[in-house]
Amino acid sequence: MSRPAEYSFIRYLAAKKSVDDRALNRRVLEALAQAVAARSAGTPLRVLEIGCGIGAMAERLVKWGILKDADYTGIDLEPACVAEALRRLQRFAELNDLAVETETERLKLTGPDLNLSLTFEAADCFAFADRETGRSTWDLLVAHAFLDLVDLGEALPRLLALLRPGGWFYFPLNFDGATVFQPVIEPAWEGRLMDLYHQTMIRRGLGGKVSDGSTTGRRLFAALKAAGAEVLAAGGSDWVVFPEAGGYPEDEAYFLHFIIHTIQEALADYPGWDRRALEAWIDRRHAQVEAGELVYLAHQLDFFGRVL
Ligand SMILES: C[S@@+](CC[C@H](N)C(=O)[O-])C[C@H]1O[C@@H](n2cnc3c(N)ncnc32)[C@H](O)[C@@H]1O
Repeated sequence: MSRPAEYSFIRYLAAKKSVDDRALNRRVLEALAQAVAARSAGTPLRVLEIGCGIGAMAERLVKWGILKDADYTGIDLEPACVAEALRRLQRFAELNDLAVETETERLKLTGPDLNLSLTFEAADCFAFADRETGRSTWDLLVAHAFLDLVDLGEALPRLLALLRPGGWFYFPLNFDGATVFQPVIEPAWEGRLMDLYHQTMIRRGLGGKVSDGSTTGRRLFAALKAAGAEVLAAGGSDWVVFPEAGGYPEDEAYFLHFIIHTIQEALADYPGWDRRALEAWIDRRHAQVEAGELVYLAHQLDFFGRVL
């Protein structure tokens, strides 16, 4: 596909789904599936997903047979994401011959082996946590491609407090410090560019605490332990995007254009960087997507575990 004139975050999240489907660590996913399956039937599993985007994880967990009887609450800061999540899950139900009941921000999907209530809410997850702590608890907390956006030391205790004692967390796709584009153009220059891009992922949390989102994956081992959680399974979930014989699968060419655009946006105003060299690099990478030549890798880690 040719270089987009405009970029849509919603379309990016939709294009990301097939990349994530391939990437998710199957051992970690299997640990989650086994824990859920071993639970004695009776009440629906209460699931909370924060930063749920367009609801891709809810869709996937149902499609892959992991969620069969659940009350699923998805929270995202962006009202447009929440609206799209409701639209997509309704469409998913129609395509899979499931019965659907709709209410504002809610869907109930039922089928031969499915009883799923879905609620999507546009909210900041920390405001939501403050509101719900002491009022509600969940059996499973999901944060997918989300924790590299927050300060772990500040976020984990507040979010894990929403779980019942012994409740599970499933935290897939935590970025972990490696972004690779092939073919390599200029290794040394590009290495510096990627270092700088990773530095743009450093964020300040409460009290000015610095959180390095580019190493969230590896830092989660210690951060989860410090927050009173036990890791039961962990493993790599690298994004690997490459052109197949007929080009990039699904909408993954758009996904690649969006990633290149994100790097451009992150570095555009970075002081001391040669802007023209950056623009030339960006142009070449977009052209490689158009020509079906670009390979893109990002290193990430998945976690499943429980609070003590
Ligand atoms: C990288 S996207 C991942 C979305 C989705 N989990 C997925 O992987 O398809 C991160 C999402 O977190 C949401 N987000 C960012 N900060 C948030 C906050 N404080 N509370 C709730 N959602 C937030 C964004 O709007 C965005 O949809």
